[in-house]
Amino acid sequence: MSQISYNPVDDENVECPYPLFAALRREAPVHYSPELGYYLVTRYEDCVAVMLNTDAFKGFGPAPIGLELAEVCPADPRRLHRPQQGLGLAMSKEGAAYRRSRRLFNAALSPEVLAALEPDIRRIVGDLIDQWIDAGTVEFIDRFASAVPARVIAVMLGYPEADWQTYRRWADSFIDAISGLVLPDGREQEVMAERAATLAFQQERVAEQWEDPESFVGRLRRIRHHDDVPSTREELASLSLSLLTGGLDTTTNLLGNAMYELASRPGHWQRLRRTPALIPNMIEEALRHEPPTTGLYRSCVADTEVGGTLIPRGAGLMVCFASGNRDEAQFPEPESFDMERDNARANISFGKGMRFCPGAPLARLEGRIAFEELTRRLADVRLSPSRNDFRHIPSLLFRRLQRLWLDVDAA
Ligand code: HEM
Repeated sequence: MSQISYNPVDDENVECPYPLFAALRREAPVHYSPELGYYLVTRYEDCVAVMLNTDAFKGFGPAPIGLELAEVCPADPRRLHRPQQGLGLAMSKEGAAYRRSRRLFNAALSPEVLAALEPDIRRIVGDLIDQWIDAGTVEFIDRFASAVPARVIAVMLGYPEADWQTYRRWADSFIDAISGLVLPDGREQEVMAERAATLAFQQERVAEQWEDPESFVGRLRRIRHHDDVPSTREELASLSLSLLTGGLDTTTNLLGNAMYELASRPGHWQRLRRTPALIPNMIEEALRHEPPTTGLYRSCVADTEVGGTLIPRGAGLMVCFASGNRDEAQFPEPESFDMERDNARANISFGKGMRFCPGAPLARLEGRIAFEELTRRLADVRLSPSRNDFRHIPSLLFRRLQRLWLDVDAA
């Protein structure tokens, strides 16, 4: 076990984990952090090996999500507090229950569903740009990056689109609950209250849509499972919750991080405007270089060697996407942002193997349409000189700037 002492919860490391990760990849690629109480897996190859070994490494484990996290991170019980009772999220399911959830995800996010959603995504993106394009300046996270996925999910789930700020607030609470850091005083109670409100709202929507065959719930109710047991109301409420919590902040981070990459590099915006065909690869490179999620937890259920280190049964670990994505053994010149990188799509930001993010095609679609419309309508974007502090949200798991002020020129 490595004796190196890096404190991943230091402000500096939370703000910018890349130097820490580079040092760990070099010196202690599978590193037990006493501050966190779990292992950090930092090399690309090892991250992939852990995610593919689903016998030894479980998702959030069979226990309810909050309980599992509290076990993974016992050092400070407040650091990962225990949100309410079990949520029944897919991430915490195993075996047959997991396969049932996965079938529902695949149906909810099928290519046909996404094709039907595309005009709404373009409408939402266009409407948001209309709201600030003439002002010449915009706070991009609030006025675009968080609004797009919240409004898209609302359309998808059949919720009132106008209430998107509420869905965003609910998703933010979930994200805070698993941030891995101590929450400010009082926030924990707020998170609990938001959690209860989210669950109640979703149960009501399931009841409301249950008999309507054209609704989101009505369509998914008809999905046949391998065991022929029909979907229950609880499963469909849990599905809605997984989509809301899995699809909002992550996509916001993607849009915000990609915009920062472009606006902070002279010439990149013009290059994309001239060659919009580069947009999908630019999205992959943004996912690699500044991933929406820094990493994800796994729990070890059988003694297993990873990268020469024995991880004991019962240990928790974090697969560090943000580190694997900058592993020089996989990506030449990993620190540079290269929109034409050949293997940008080999990034691990959506996970790998059986639990690969079922929302990846939707996130990629939202990203492509957003930047197609943004580059079409904006002749130039620049970081606003004096309004940005470039601070990230305090989280070990999620990565995005708190604010991103841009100066924009309409085309
Ligand atoms: C850029 C955006 C996104 C990123 C980076 C991302 C990342 C991830 C990752 C890494 C996982 C794998 C978890 C694991 O291995 O245990 C995951 C799972 C999941 N994602 Fe995403 N995601 C994104 C967008 C979305 C969207 C748009 C949705 C749906 C609306 C979504 C829904 C889910 C769900 C439901 C799971 C759980 C799947 C399972 O456990 O089988 N995600 N996501």
